[in-house]
Formats: sequence, structure tokens, C-alpha cells
Amino acid sequence: MGANSWYNYSMQKGREGTREAWRLIWGTYGRLKGWWAAMAFAATVGVSNTILMPIFSSLALGAMAVGDFAQAWRWVLAFAAASLAYSIAYSVGWFLAARAEHKGFRRLVNNYFRKLVRADIEYFADSKTGYLVAQARGFGDATLNLVRIMRRNLLRTVIAIVVPIVVILTQNLLIGVAIALLSLSMVFYTRWAAKKVQPARTEAREVLRENTGIISDIITNIVAIRASAREEAMAERMERRWDLEIKKFLQRHYVGIRLTTGRNLIGFVFFATSASLVVWQGSLGAISFTLAILIVQYLMTIAVACSNLNDDIDDMSEEINKIQPAAEFMLRENKINDKVGAVVLGKVRGEIELQKVAMNYEGSAVFSDLSLKIAAGEKLGVVGVSGAGKTTLVKLMMRFDDVDSGAVLIDGVDVREIKQDSLHLNTAYVPQEPLLMHDTIEANIRLSKPDAIEAEVAKAVKAAHLTEFVKTLPSGLQTIVGERGVKLSGGQKQRVAIARAVLQGAPIMILDEATSALDSESEAIIKDSFKEIFRGKTAVVVAHRLSTLRDMDRIIVVAGGKIVEEGSHLSLVRQDGIYAKMWRQQSEFE
Ligand SMILES: Nc1ncnc2c1ncn2[C@@H]1O[C@H](COP(=O)(O)OP(=O)(O)OP(=O)(O)O)[C@@H](O)[C@H]1O
Ligand SMILES: [Mg+2]
Repeated sequence: MGANSWYNYSMQKGREGTREAWRLIWGTYGRLKGWWAAMAFAATVGVSNTILMPIFSSLALGAMAVGDFAQAWRWVLAFAAASLAYSIAYSVGWFLAARAEHKGFRRLVNNYFRKLVRADIEYFADSKTGYLVAQARGFGDATLNLVRIMRRNLLRTVIAIVVPIVVILTQNLLIGVAIALLSLSMVFYTRWAAKKVQPARTEAREVLRENTGIISDIITNIVAIRASAREEAMAERMERRWDLEIKKFLQRHYVGIRLTTGRNLIGFVFFATSASLVVWQGSLGAISFTLAILIVQYLMTIAVACSNLNDDIDDMSEEINKIQPAAEFMLRENKINDKVGAVVLGKVRGEIELQKVAMNYEGSAVFSDLSLKIAAGEKLGVVGVSGAGKTTLVKLMMRFDDVDSGAVLIDGVDVREIKQDSLHLNTAYVPQEPLLMHDTIEANIRLSKPDAIEAEVAKAVKAAHLTEFVKTLPSGLQTIVGERGVKLSGGQKQRVAIARAVLQGAPIMILDEATSALDSESEAIIKDSFKEIFRGKTAVVVAHRLSTLRDMDRIIVVAGGKIVEEGSHLSLVRQDGIYAKMWRQQSEFE
């Protein structure tokens, strides 16, 4: 795609996002009766404030001008009553609005977050954390701001423009038509101008969000940056990014300023023309003194409302712009979905089968035709050089991704037919790079089974060879591990992840390099507890250190997208192939 067509593409996407954002807002708030009631109260406030006040005051002044003070008093009284109604309506409206708006907010953010935690694992691999955080946070806040602007101002502004025009039209057609045309041109200009700024605004927002992503990326990688003495380089990188952000925002403001100048010119014509008409019609005796006062006041009302409308549209576009990425995300179709009527698995026996599996990442094939059958209760070791596809293989078993062709079956059922939750309750998984939540060790272990009794946790802790380590900690299992588990060593983190998997008690256990960071002694101890941990279960254990796999029932060697060797440790050593060579090399080191 050329640069220009990319631009068009993203603009097109932007429009869709805007539409979707509005659809989301209306679909949620439009259904809340309380919100409409709040709108109605806001309108009442608008009517008494901007419509009735000028009428009462012009009538009172008109009465005073002809010396009818008794009548003037009556108008002042009416004026006071309207003020009182205004104050009460204001409070009631606000009360209703506060409740309704938070109800809508709650619905929106909950739907959004439910969808986010269920998004494809691939989606997270493709997005920067900071970007997603900015998107999630911005979504909730912006929806609330948006509906507040709508509730407080929108109906009120429309009333403040339409009703005075209608009133004037009924009193003096010529002035009425002139004001109506001038107001229309102001409103249309405002709408046109809002559209004009939108691309610049979208670009500015996008840079802002990207920058948030880069900041979080830098923070995540701070150790590598320090270790390579790249602090200044990163600061300079951000300096360029800030400059870009400022440039984009300035561009947006320049567009805004140009457009505002246009609006002010229309405003000038509006006042000059209508005031001249009032004086001219007055000199002809076509309008009374009272009406002249009313029209002049209404001119102010209309002008202020048009100007407010401009600001409101501007603010609303700003908020819609913040909502847009989340709205686009809400439109996004997950690649990995639960089928309608998906099978809910009970506890499985644990048979896993891959049938003629083909799988590629962005066009480069990892597997083209891989078949593998793991019997229920079998302990399978997986080895292969880095990048051979071992992690991909186990991720397919968890359905973190779908095969391009072929199938993955658990107990004979295609994983695509299984409800994901029920699949994952059957598979305990230790990922290659386990991360922990910023919480206690115990909470991190319990993630897989929050209602486990203490004895179960203790057993899992022991199986993962964590007991000794936990004893050395002043707060024991209640020690906070820091974000992503930074306060634990690599091997400690891995053991917490193993304990978590053990506690889950699933019939299938998948360990991807789960002991790679352990010293040989700790590893040997954990390996010994494998017998206990894996009893009665199917186990798939990926390891570079071959000694980990010695006791497995079967070991497969993955290379070039295929299984090139398989058998028990002893038979593979005897085969004298790739495995035997790897084994000899490792034995020399140990
Ligand atoms: N999310 C992804 N997007 C694109 N390519 C990927 C992705 N994940 C893995 N790959 C590529 O797929 C291939 C297989 O990766 P995989 O992680 O399965 O290898 P591995 O055998 O587990 O390696 P290691 O022993 O280093 O863990 C690699 O070439 C890798 O670059
Ligand atoms: Mg891997």
C-alpha cells in the first residue's frame, strides 16, 4: 500500500470507528430511561433560563416604559417563579443524570473489559501494553464526558436556537426569516468545521496513544536499557516523539483557529444584519418597543447557543475520538471464538491428538503436516532447536491459536468445538516465560484454583520445591512479588508458576521450559516430584535440558516442522541420531 492509500484507509477506518462509537453510546445510554429523564430536566432548565427569562424581562421593561408598574410587578413575579422552577429542575436533573450516567458507564466498561480479557492471545502480542491501557482507560472516561456534554448542553442548545427563532417568526416574518437563515448558516458552518478538524484530531490522538505505548515499552525494558547505557538515547527518542505529538496538536489547533475565524465572521454578519433589521422595522413601526427588546435579547441567546454548539461539537468530537479505538476493538472479530453450542467438557481422560496440522505465522510455515497422538496418561517430552515450533505446538493444544488446516483433538473432540473455558480447566499450563501478577505468592498460586484449601496449596508449594525458599521470606507466602514478578529470581518465578499449575489439578499438564531457569539440583528435585505431580495425568513437557525428560514415556524431536525422531530416552540414545548427539553434547557439559 502506498502512503496515500494507507492514509485513506485509516481515515476510512476512522469514520467507521466514529460511527461505531456513536452506536455504542446510543445503544447503551439511549436505553436508560433515567438518562432521558435527565435530558428532559436539562431541557426544562434550558427553556426557563433562555426562553422565558427574555420574555418576562422584555414584558416587564415594556410595561415600565409605558408607566404600568403594576403589570411590571406581575412579570417580575413570573420571572421569580420561573427561576425557582429552574433551580429545582437543575438539582433533580443532576441527581437523575448522575445515577443514569454511571449505570451506562458501568455497562460499557464491563462489556469492553469482558471482551478485552477474551481477545485472541495474538491480539495482545500485536499491541503495546501502554496503548491498550490508554485505550481502556480513555474509553470509560471519554464515554462519561461525552454523555455529560450531551445531557447538559445538547437539547438545551437546540431549544435555545429553535424556540427564539419560532417566536420571532410569529411576530415579524422578515426578521424571523433573516435570523433563521443566518443561524442555519452558522450551524452548518460549525458542523462542516468539526468534520474538517477531525483528521488532524485523529492523527494527534493516535500519536498520543502511540507515545503512551512507547513509554510503557521503555519502562518494561528498563533493565536492558540501563545495561546498554541507552538512557539518554531513550530520552532523545521520547523527545522526538513529544515533538511529534506537539506538532500534531499544534496542527490541529491551527486548523481550529482558522475555522473559528470563519465562524466569527459569520457571527459579525449575523449581528450587524439582524440589529439593522430591528432598527429599520422599528422606524417603520412594524415592531413594538417590547418586541424590539425581546428580539435583541434573543439575538444574544441564539448567538451564545450557536457558539456553545460549536464548542460542544468540538468537545464531543474530542471525546468520540478517544472512544474510537475502543469502539473499533468492540467491532473486532476474535479469531478464536466459542462456537454456538460449543461442547462443555467435563473432566477429560487426557488424550491429545494432532491430525495433519499446518500452521503459519504471517506466511511463514511452522508446521505443514504434523501428526501426533498422545495417549491419556502418557508423559511426552518435546525437544528441538530454538524456533523449531515447540511453544507453537503446545499453544495449539491450548487453542491459543487455530491451525490453518488439520485438527487438534482432546479426547477425540476438535478443540474448535470445545468451549474455551472448559478446555482450559482441563489443561494446566506453565508458559515459557511465566509472568506473575503484582500480588502475593499465594495469590499467584491460587490464580488457578481460588477456592483451594490450605493443604492443597501447601502440597503444590512442596511439589514445586518452593517450601525452603518461602521459609526464608519474612512474610512467607504473603510476600508481594512485584509487577510481573520482578522481585523473584527467574527460577523462583518458574516454581511459583509450576505450583500454580499443580494446584489447578487438571488432567492435562503442559510445561514449556518450565525448569529452564533452575539450577541442576533444584531441577533434579522437581523432576523427582514430576512422578507425583503427573500421576494419572497426561503430561507434555518441553525442555532443552534433556536430563529433565529422561523418565518420560516418550520423547519427540521436532525439526523443520516435523517429528524427526521419537522414542524413550534410552531408545533415542541408541538410535544415535539428533537426540543422541544433543545428549552427548549436554553430558559433556554436566
Ligand atoms: N506470535 C508470533 N508471531 C509470528 N511468529 C511467531 C510468533 N510466535 C512464534 N513465531 C515464530 O514461529 C517459530 C516457532 O516459534 P516457537 O516459539 O514455537 O519455537 P520454540 O521451538 O518454542 O523455540 P524456543 O526453544 O526458542 O522456545 C519461530 O520461528 C518464531 O519466530
Ligand atoms: Mg518455545
